[in-house]
Amino acid sequence: MLAVITGASSGIGKELAYRLAEKNYDLVLVARREDRLKEIKKDLEKHDIKINLKVYDIQNINSCEKLMSELKDSKIDLFINNAGFGLYGETLEIQTSKEFDMIDLNIKSLQYLTKEVIKHMETGQIINLSSMAAFLPTPFLSSYAASKAYVYSYSQALRYELKRKKIPINVMTVCPGPVITEFNEVANASPKMKGLTVKKCVDSIIKGIEKKKALVIPGLKMKILKFLLRFAPNCLVLKVSYRVQQNK
Ligand SMILES: NC(=O)c1ccc[n+]([C@@H]2O[C@H](COP(=O)([O-])OP(=O)(O)OC[C@H]3O[C@@H](n4cnc5c(N)ncnc54)[C@H](OP(=O)(O)O)[C@@H]3O)[C@@H](O)[C@H]2O)c1
Repeated sequence: MLAVITGASSGIGKELAYRLAEKNYDLVLVARREDRLKEIKKDLEKHDIKINLKVYDIQNINSCEKLMSELKDSKIDLFINNAGFGLYGETLEIQTSKEFDMIDLNIKSLQYLTKEVIKHMETGQIINLSSMAAFLPTPFLSSYAASKAYVYSYSQALRYELKRKKIPINVMTVCPGPVITEFNEVANASPKMKGLTVKKCVDSIIKGIEKKKALVIPGLKMKILKFLLRFAPNCLVLKVSYRVQQNK
């Protein structure tokens, strides 16, 4: 079994690499920081698995093309589109070029890789990292939340199309709430709300993979929030979301 993980050098992607190694998956780990990837490979040497490192900036579509051409002879069982980042701040103060970089990584590369993997995969799963932010317009994280809403909507619709065509590939969407990783540091946010541990988040993802789920929302609090959002008027959601995010 082979799993490809983008954004494997830290946080959720890194934990997924450790957990899938325990399950004897061979791994292809993708990220920009080669030193981090090498450390992870060294840590995982105790497992009898093959680990291939791909040091790519996959924000760039040319790099995604190179990655896919290097994987053309591999039988991929799991492809995890995990690489992504957020931008915290007043929307009018965030540089548009940074927002466009984020859209390139969070949306365009994910979409490119998803489609290329489906062409290449006979059977297996694609796991796309969205966010709870997909379900609520989020002041101070406006473009990030919008990018994750895109990922959610795209992945769910694609999954349904594949199912109707009886193509044996499951597309699973993962929508975590806050998780303790380097995400906030990269996004320039300092949340007061305590996040889920990366271990708990990845426990849910692994269970979701085993059950070939459509959607995984790690943590009970976030499942309750998703349920309550059904009944809350948009103006209330925005008001509460503004207050919570303003305090970061
Ligand atoms: N943590 C949260 O609260 C949270 C909540 C909901 C959803 N998520 C989503 O979960 C995913 C993982 O985030 P995380 O929390 O684990 O954050 P993280 O610790 O910052 O990890 C992000 C990973 O993405 C990689 N990455 C970033 N830009 C890249 C690029 N241009 N090319 C290749 N790799 C790149 C990083 O590696 P390099 O820097 O080495 O390239 C790193 O391995 C993201 O999609 C995020 O939006 C996170």
